[in-house]
Amino acid sequence: MSGNITLTMIKPDAVANNYIGPILSQINNAGFRIIAMKMTHLSPAKAGQFYAVHKERPFYNDLVKFMSSGHIVAAILEKDNAVEDFRKLIGATNPAEAAEGTIRKQFAESLERNAVHGSDSDDNANIEADFFFSQLERFSG
Ligand code: RTP
Ligand code: MG
Repeated sequence: MSGNITLTMIKPDAVANNYIGPILSQINNAGFRIIAMKMTHLSPAKAGQFYAVHKERPFYNDLVKFMSSGHIVAAILEKDNAVEDFRKLIGATNPAEAAEGTIRKQFAESLERNAVHGSDSDDNANIEADFFFSQLERFSG
C-alpha cells in the first residue's frame, strides 16, 4: 500500500530567488496539505546526514556545500500516494529534462540548484519527516 506523506525541502536557490510562495501555492493547488513546516539552515554535517545515501557519489561534496549554503524550507505534505504524486509534480532531477509545468521546470536553475527535494520512497519519507519534525510539530487532519 502506498503511504500518504512525503517530505519536501525548498532548496537554497529557490529560497534566495523568492520562490517560497509560488512553490507552496503549486503544492497546495496539486492537492497536498502541509501538515508541518519550518524554515531552517542546515549545517554541513546535517546536510551530509540528510543525503548520506549519496555519500559515495561524485557530486556528494558539492551537494552538501550547496544544501548548507542558505536557508531552506522543510515541510511534510499529506495526500494519497504522496511520494509518487509529488515526484511527478516536481519533475526530473535535471530541470533541462523536466516536463512542462513541473516545479523544477519552472523554478530550478540547474541539476544541482534544482529548487526542491522530494522523498523517493515511503520508507525514506518517514525517515526524512523524522529528521526535521517531532510528532508534536505535525498537524495532520
Ligand atoms: P532530491 O533527492 O533532492 O529530491 O533529488 P532527486 O531524488 O531528484 O535526485 P538524487 O539522485 O537523489 O540526487 C540528489 C541531488 O543531488 C544533486 N545531483 N547532482 N551532479 C550530478 O550529477 C548530480 N546528480 C544529482 C541534485 O541536486 C539532486 O537533486
Ligand atoms: Mg533523491
